[in-house]
Amino acid sequence: MTRPISLEYNGEVAVIQSDNPPVNALSHAVRSGLQDAFLQVISEGKARAIVLICEGRSFFAGADIREFGGPMLEPVLPDLINQIESCPIPVVSAIHGTALGGGLEVAMGTHYRVTADSGQLGLPEVNLGLLPGAGGTQRLPRLVPMDEAAGMITGGRPIRAQKAIEIGLVDKVVPLADLRAEALAFAQALIRDGKSPRPTSANDCDQMNANRFAVLSDKVRKSARGSVAPLKCLEALEAAMLLPFDEGLAKERALFLDLVQSDQRAALTHAFFAERQVGKLPEIKGVSPRDIATVGVVGGGTMGAGITVCSLLSGLDVTLIERDAESVDRATSTVSKLLMGAVKRGKLSQQACDAILSGSFRASTDYTDLAQADLVIEAVFESMEVKKEIFGTLDQVCRQGAILASNTSYLDLNAIAQMTGRPANVIGLHFFSPAHVMRLLEVVVGNATAPDVTATGFALAKRLGKIAVRAGVCDGFIGNRILSQYQKANNATVLAGASPFDVDAALTGFGLAMGPFAVGDLAGLDIGWANRKRPAPTRDPGEVYPEFADRLCEMGRFGRKTGRGFYIYDDAAPNGRPDPEVEEIIAEERAEKGIAPRAIDASEIVERYMAAMVNEAARIVEEGIALRPLDVDVTLLNGYGFPRWRGGPMQYADTVGISKILSDINRFTEDDPRFWQAAPLLERLAQEDRSFASLNTQGE
Ligand code: 3HC
Ligand code: NAI
Repeated sequence: MTRPISLEYNGEVAVIQSDNPPVNALSHAVRSGLQDAFLQVISEGKARAIVLICEGRSFFAGADIREFGGPMLEPVLPDLINQIESCPIPVVSAIHGTALGGGLEVAMGTHYRVTADSGQLGLPEVNLGLLPGAGGTQRLPRLVPMDEAAGMITGGRPIRAQKAIEIGLVDKVVPLADLRAEALAFAQALIRDGKSPRPTSANDCDQMNANRFAVLSDKVRKSARGSVAPLKCLEALEAAMLLPFDEGLAKERALFLDLVQSDQRAALTHAFFAERQVGKLPEIKGVSPRDIATVGVVGGGTMGAGITVCSLLSGLDVTLIERDAESVDRATSTVSKLLMGAVKRGKLSQQACDAILSGSFRASTDYTDLAQADLVIEAVFESMEVKKEIFGTLDQVCRQGAILASNTSYLDLNAIAQMTGRPANVIGLHFFSPAHVMRLLEVVVGNATAPDVTATGFALAKRLGKIAVRAGVCDGFIGNRILSQYQKANNATVLAGASPFDVDAALTGFGLAMGPFAVGDLAGLDIGWANRKRPAPTRDPGEVYPEFADRLCEMGRFGRKTGRGFYIYDDAAPNGRPDPEVEEIIAEERAEKGIAPRAIDASEIVERYMAAMVNEAARIVEEGIALRPLDVDVTLLNGYGFPRWRGGPMQYADTVGISKILSDINRFTEDDPRFWQAAPLLERLAQEDRSFASLNTQGE
């Protein structure tokens, strides 16, 4: 028998156990071990029931994702599950941790399910660009109502044990500590009561009427935004309703195998592993982070309030410092409102909210209140003078060993660190807005930042439920530096002839949730305006500088908050409608600059946007600002709304080919040779016929 699987007898119950750390993925060794174990139990004939259980932190968390794209080794999972289901004696799954994907499919192939109360069950394949490919789409709606099955399969979110028993997915929920004993008792009761195997495939599939299915399909199509897998899930569910089990299973398998070969599956799998790889840095390997229990936040505006709230929600103590009593009141009220929002959404109990507001949260104007903080995060105005002054003060009042962090979006962290006598304890923690919602945290490492301070930044991100990416110091770090470049490319596309609305339409067609001009309106056009003013004195006079966005700001049109930006926001169009006046302003600028507008189609808009993004990202990797291409991908996926099913800009470049991106850049050079200069790394990779992915193991 293969190693990860063991078999023992407990009276008339055979216990088949998997031990394949960390999450009992159903690798080839596990599948063949399971097959052997079931055959052995049947051939030995000593058992009258079987319990299937896993060691370690989880029941099977799914197929082994690393095997996708390679040869499928026998036994393949659907066949193994069919064999388990046809076992002549009852089989009971004992579930703990996460029964996900192939793991839940195995459990549904067994005849009975007992789960720990902390267990979670789900079919998250859609998140990897797949559908459940081992009977999940056919068995789930034979156990639970079709709308629940469709929600789980197209949404990919796991459900808790309590919900699982309510909808009929499991038979019993028990305390985690008693799982093995309870599963054994369950199996013994089956023997005692003379129960036979209960194959899920023999159940009727729950039906959904055609109208409701059409409404559901419409909803799924809209939210998929170009992602194919959710629509394929629906095809498989339709097959479950219309076809006999075996035919439905064959249909599901065919759809699954197509998806396994797709670029979207490769991109989403890349995103999954990149998000786990991104925190693995040679400089913090084996380095212990410092303990963080009390946090100071300086500045309680948009970002400071959000940072305060996510810290409080993670159990940290927060002292917020504002500049005067009025600002303290305003910040306190924002923090309370955000916490109340968490109560309304069921994320926090009213009691816990009250305890936070009366216990772990304080606001003041007195910096000496930060004397005992373990970490202070500065989030005041984006002004070097103000930040330098604050870091000087913090250095005076904070205890030795306290970490001083800045949330600056663009400014030179090394210069800020120099204002202190402890540059090794200074770091950038660049949160994204809204800080209590967005998952990305850029951990900006300065020249002098100590490794354990960097390690603390990563540990803090984990505690806050965020994904941390290491960034070096430069204007805009990873994300905002790339953003500045693709914004320039989009503005140039507009000057050349497209409207901002054409650009937004092309890029939402590409998969972005919102077009960049609509995003500008949402964030406030004044933010970009201020960022453009900063480098204005050093701007190359040869640069073609699009002025239309500045024109709108000069007119007081800052976007949504003023009711007008690129779009008009009013009762008729709360989400905005294109403003023809914007096109007039742009036309005037073209005339002043002697530009004859030309038609630019959606594919060229996308090519320009992606070429600018990939080119700047290549420079960022080459300079070491991002450690690896995957760090860029994780940044753009989690902070900038890049479509996840495209895997990030570097994965996209690998998919279309680096030489294609390079030839686009060379084509655009004719329009603006100053802007369109290929990054040396891009040229080198194209010459060597290598991918960005080949650089992802760098530094390991
Ligand atoms: N295959 C291979 N490796 C896996 C894996 C899987 N299914 N699931 C997790 N891992 C690895 C991770 O890469 C990570 O490896 P590392 O330590 O080398 O970085 C390690 O297991 C631990 O994972 P996490 O860091 O994510 O641990 P968490 O405790 O935060 O989360 C989890 C655990 C909830 C199980 C999470 O890992 C997860 O969501 N995994 C993916 C689950 C999934 O998508 N299953 C469906 C697979 S597709 C399928 O089953 C097809 C079938 O229908 C035929
Ligand atoms: P904001 O203007 O909303 O808030 C700044 C706050 O700092 C104000 O409440 C102000 O009263 C306070 N403040 C100013 N000087 C102070 C002082 N000396 N002591 C104490 N408090 C003081 O600004 P926002 O948007 O929150 O930005 C803060 C920082 O976060 C900036 O560095 C910005 O670049 C960065 N950032 C902003 C993002 C955004 O989307 N708004 C995203 C990521 C970073």
